[in-house]
Formats: sequence, C-alpha cells, structure tokens
Amino acid sequence: MPLVTTKEMFKKAYDGGYAIGAFNVNNMEIIQGITQAAADLRAPLILQVSAGARKYASHVYLMKLVEAAVEDTGLPICLHLDHGDSFEICKSCIDGGFTSVMMDGSKFSFEENIRITSEVVKYAHDRGVVVEGELGRLAGVEDDVNVSAEDSSYTRPEEVQEFVERTGVDSLAIAIGTSHGAYKFKPGTKPQLQFQILEEVGKRLPGFPIVLHGASSVPQEFVKAINSNGGALEDAIGVPEDMLRQAASMAVCKINIDSDLRLAMTAAVREHLANHPGDFDPRQFLKPGRESIKAMVAHKINNVLGCAGQA
Ligand code: G3H
Ligand code: 13P
Ligand code: ZN
Repeated sequence: MPLVTTKEMFKKAYDGGYAIGAFNVNNMEIIQGITQAAADLRAPLILQVSAGARKYASHVYLMKLVEAAVEDTGLPICLHLDHGDSFEICKSCIDGGFTSVMMDGSKFSFEENIRITSEVVKYAHDRGVVVEGELGRLAGVEDDVNVSAEDSSYTRPEEVQEFVERTGVDSLAIAIGTSHGAYKFKPGTKPQLQFQILEEVGKRLPGFPIVLHGASSVPQEFVKAINSNGGALEDAIGVPEDMLRQAASMAVCKINIDSDLRLAMTAAVREHLANHPGDFDPRQFLKPGRESIKAMVAHKINNVLGCAGQA
C-alpha cells in the first residue's frame, strides 16, 4: 500500500468519535517503535516531520524510512509536514512525496494567513496532497519558534468558517489552551482547556476535522525516571489524558504528540545506561529506547486516541 492522505482516516475518525495519532519522527528507532505499536493494534497512523527534523535527518532518509515502515506493516500511513511556515517548504515536501502538509500561518495576520495558506492548498490539491491550516497561536517551544504565553492566543470561532471556505484547507488546527513542549501548565495549577471554543468551532464547521497540537500528557513516571538517572527536568506538566479523550470524541480527529515520545525514549536510554555503565554499543541503549516508544504509542492508541482496530 502506498502512503495515504488523511481524507478517509479523518472521515472515519469524525464519524466514529476517535482521533488519529500524529507522532513526530526523526530517526529509525522512533519510526520503528511507533509503527510496530500501530501495526500490533491495527491503528491508522500519521507520521509527521518538522522542519528541524528534516534538517537533522534529511528528507530522503526520512522518506525511505517511512516507506520501509509502510512496506513492513502494510498500515495506512500518512506522511505529514508539521508546522510548515512557508510556501517553499510545503512545496518541497509535496514534490518530495509527502501526502499531507501543514501550512502554519498562525504568526501572520488573518488576511496574510489566508493568502499564503490558499497558495499552498492550490499547489497541494493539484497533486493529490491534503493541507492542514492553523488559526490561533499555541504557546511553547519548538526548534525554530518560541511563542511566549503573552503572544499566544485562542482561536476565535467566528473566524473559522471564513478561513476554511476561503483557503480550502482539509483540516484546521486550533488553540484551546494546549502548548508545545513538556512545560504546559504551571506546577500547582489545574490544567484547563477551553472546550467551549472546540464546541463552538464544531458547530460552525459540521463534519470538519479539527487538529489538536501540543497534546503530550507528560507522564510523571518518565520525568522521575529521567531525573533519577542523571537528568534535570523541572516540574513538567502536560494535558490530562481524559481531556484528550474528550476532545477526540468531539471534532478533534488528529492529536499531535512529540514530547511524550522524547520523554519515553530518554527515560529508557538513561535508565539503561545508569544500570549498564559499561555499555557503549548504541544498539544496547537504543533498543530499550525503541521499546519505550512502542509502549508509549500503544498506550496512546488504547487510552487516548481510541483508534485501535480502525486500520
Ligand atoms: O510542534 C513541534 C514538534 O514538537 C517538533 O519539534 O521542531 O523540535 O522538531 P521540533
Ligand atoms: P507536544 O510538544 O505536546 O508533544 O506537541 C507536539 C506537536 O504539537 C507537534 O506539532
Ligand atoms: Zn505543533
């Protein structure tokens, strides 16, 4: 089976009240851990690549690794550009075989976001590729972007219909209080998401797939495992899983997870090296890293996404 777009996946997910996991990848062990978990559970899958990941591993390596995963598992897999910030990077990924791109124009004005996103949609649709747009701005840190809490903003439901109609996007990322990275909510405060925004967006765009970024839960056992084996993470707090489940049962069809994979892999690698200080063959510590990614993804599929058996 070749790489697929999200068209069918999202239609089924919307109707079925579940979501598809979009996991960030940048090396072979991460791709194998994710795809082995999804294959065991027959879960449809989105593998996504950020600009930073593409710079790190290079387009062709990631492309070939993902093609290998498709061949190995027979799963419907979509290969997606995460947070494309220009027409050029979206074009390059479309030309290079990705089946989905995100044009993240959330840092631009509403009109400029529409202009640039429409340009990407035209190019993508002519080539059978789907496009995710974004309205509203998440706080948090990614490779090249650092959005402070003051510069972040919730999505304005009154803008979504016009944005979707004028751009022709296939899905829309919205900001309801999640953020990128491992430090999402202040220690001691109660995590809260603006579900009324999601509900309002859902009413204005019936049947239309919504995307939730910044959706790692930051399981405390991994933070502890990292810190008790030489790490130095501060109090990291993520999005409670029951809130993600609720979002998945509403209009959210795609849930983005990166930080939890990083925590899972790093915790396993640190634990292994702490217990086996004489090891220096990368396979010895990357293998538990890969297993830990696999267990994390299986947990997400079963407890957060609800997409097991839907491939
Ligand atoms: O939302 C962004 C992802 O977590 C990617 O992060 O830019 O560090 O690869 P990155
Ligand atoms: P997390 O940092 O919460 O994993 O979010 C990842 C993400 O939104 C990728 O686009
Ligand atoms: Zn994101």
